[in-house]
Amino acid sequence: MADIGKDITRAQQLLLDGHLVAIPTETVYGLAANALNEKAVLEIFKAKNRPHFDPLIVHVSGLAQAETLVESIPDIVKTLTQKFWPGPLTVLLPKKEIVPDLVTSGLNTVGLRCPDHTLTLELLKNLPFPLAAPSANPFGYVSPTTPQHVNEQLGDKVSYILDGGECRVGIESTILGFENTPTVYRLGGLTLEALEPITGLLHVQLNSSSNPHAPGQLQSHYAPRKKILLGTREQLLAHSYLKAGTIVFQNQLPGISDVKQVILSPSGNLEEAAQHLFAALRQLDKTDVEIILAELVPETGLGRAINDRLRRAAH
Ligand code: TXA
Ligand code: MG
Repeated sequence: MADIGKDITRAQQLLLDGHLVAIPTETVYGLAANALNEKAVLEIFKAKNRPHFDPLIVHVSGLAQAETLVESIPDIVKTLTQKFWPGPLTVLLPKKEIVPDLVTSGLNTVGLRCPDHTLTLELLKNLPFPLAAPSANPFGYVSPTTPQHVNEQLGDKVSYILDGGECRVGIESTILGFENTPTVYRLGGLTLEALEPITGLLHVQLNSSSNPHAPGQLQSHYAPRKKILLGTREQLLAHSYLKAGTIVFQNQLPGISDVKQVILSPSGNLEEAAQHLFAALRQLDKTDVEIILAELVPETGLGRAINDRLRRAAH
């Protein structure tokens, strides 16, 4: 098991020495290494058992550091990052040579984001390089939102987990590209409603089957081991299962014992639901239920990203 603590200096030293450190962000925990050190980045892929065709997001302390990594920053990206960084927005931009091809899986763009978490921002400001960091889970599994989640699955692969508590947003960043028209490649912690006043109507391109821009788009992803059945309350109630657990938005489904029911937000708040979603999947995955009945949430705001993760988990 890895050590868990708030020692930024220790995290900093490990990263300077080319090691992996799990870091908190407002979205999910990341598995970080020096983004400019190919050997260190290789360790990330190994630890996660992640295929090399799936590129990593590079975390920066702000726009100034971003400028050292990309050819140029379009005005719209300057406006967006001014408004939403630090925060759950990843932008895809043409990379400079200094960014190793391993980080971008050979693509000519790099995904950049400035995470909104005091510990990790301080860490980034103290380091002479940006941090490549995918979510700190084995490839294909649900992302971690607490240090304990990281420790359970990657504790023997990482020497230190920087403890930033439970993640505030709870689902990964929104990924935005600018090649033709501004396009969302992954729905995430920043909503379309927040982005569109600045970008205009966004193109949303999820699940492209061949040569995915973002393999996080893979239809089966963020998946627990248990079978998941997804639907509205009416659809879920039409089934009768003996050993079922549920993930519901506001209210329990009748006829299933309390311990197996996870309510995401009793008050019906989508932010709260997003924050609790991955922990709920992990919690039920550990029980002896045979199936997880998951209720779709309203398809608006963060609800779109929540439903997207549920669909991928169920696929
Ligand atoms: O919120 C987040 O984004 C978290 C925290 C740790 O920052 N990170 C995260 O990383 O979710 P990861 O590796 O689990 O997912 C990153 C996604 C992948 O689906 C990857 O394919 C996509 O971003 N991606 C990264 N660089 C890309 C690029 N240059 N072009 C297209 N997609 C890219
Ligand atoms: Mg991930």
